[in-house]
Amino acid sequence: MTKLSDRVLSMQESVTLQAAARAKSLKAQGRDILELTLGEPDFVTPRHIQQEAMAAIENGSASFYTVASGLPALKEAISRYYETYYGYSVDQNDVVVATGAKFILYAFFMAVINAGDEVLIPTPYWVSYADQVEMAGGKPVFVEARQEQHFKVTVDQLEQARTQQTKVLLLNSPSNPTGMIYTSDELTAIGNWAVEHDILILADDIYGRLVYNGAIFTPISSLSEAIRQQTIVVNGVSKTYAMTGWRVGWATGQTDVIAAMSKIISQTTSNLTTVSQYATIEALTGDQEPIEAMRATFEERLNTIYPLLNEVKGFEVVKPEGAFYLFPEVSEAMRLKGFDDVTVFTNDILEQTGVALVTGAGFGAPSHLRLSYATDMETLKEAVRRLREYMEEM
Ligand SMILES: Cc1ncc(COP(=O)(O)O)c(C=O)c1O
Repeated sequence: MTKLSDRVLSMQESVTLQAAARAKSLKAQGRDILELTLGEPDFVTPRHIQQEAMAAIENGSASFYTVASGLPALKEAISRYYETYYGYSVDQNDVVVATGAKFILYAFFMAVINAGDEVLIPTPYWVSYADQVEMAGGKPVFVEARQEQHFKVTVDQLEQARTQQTKVLLLNSPSNPTGMIYTSDELTAIGNWAVEHDILILADDIYGRLVYNGAIFTPISSLSEAIRQQTIVVNGVSKTYAMTGWRVGWATGQTDVIAAMSKIISQTTSNLTTVSQYATIEALTGDQEPIEAMRATFEERLNTIYPLLNEVKGFEVVKPEGAFYLFPEVSEAMRLKGFDDVTVFTNDILEQTGVALVTGAGFGAPSHLRLSYATDMETLKEAVRRLREYMEEM
């Protein structure tokens, strides 16, 4: 048998993809499974975006490589997007486009992390951050943001975790998995602290336009010139535009970091698939009405499902402000059912009820589980009904 690399042997598989695969295999066996695992909108990409992609295929422009870091016209569209949604403009040299925000994050860590560099990761965190930091030879340092503090870290906590090796602070607001949003005051304090200690901020803003019930997303990069200089912003179209399959992500920020990321991209994937680049130009510059309709649908689901989930015995949920996940604390539910491991508990829920959720363990939250409401209302209501029934059977 081939001896595999230490690197891959020390890696975890993504818990969300694992949970989705388990649900799919049970479904294939004929079980009645309700899948609330994946962070993927259940909508099809809006028609006008599909049409632009088809035109690029038909007129031949999608046939060819582009510059590795992305088409100038796409960088121009991204630059305008920042003017509209962030209130500042970005030079085209300070934009790099790649195969999904996930690969953008990987290119970022490969570009800035040296062996032993530390990356502060507030927990709960999105599953891939820690493994990507380790792949790049860095050390993830977790800073716990508990449910009582609405899953948001404070400057005092960050300061306690800071060492001479601290290089990057990761911020994901609105957050996957908690749906929490940092306020502008909280971000100003964190941003100024990062500037003072010369810590690079990686702002994963991918859920920035999926906010509900009047909540406001403030990009940390918009707060001051000094904070902007200190921040690399990661974004993409997967969630906002229902374009997960097109695999589009980008980063903006300091010219040298962006150039270094482009170099990594040029030696790994080359350019993002050309047809996806044309689709993204249309997504960012075309009609935004379908986007608002999808956001409003998520909001309605949240407002319907949140109170029902909160009534499930032993589940305690903070109402999310953005993204499309609910993240209940379930330690009381586990106690009532006789479990002390949330992954085993999540598997039992799947076996007994057919409701597929994701264990909080992979998000650094061993008393939580994640439910995605990027699925239709009927499925959501039935899932919560089954959870309630399960918790009532003792
Ligand atoms: C917080 C966060 N960042 C980045 C990504 C990656 O998105 P994509 O690679 O589809 O652009 C995801 C997807 O689940 C996410 O939840």
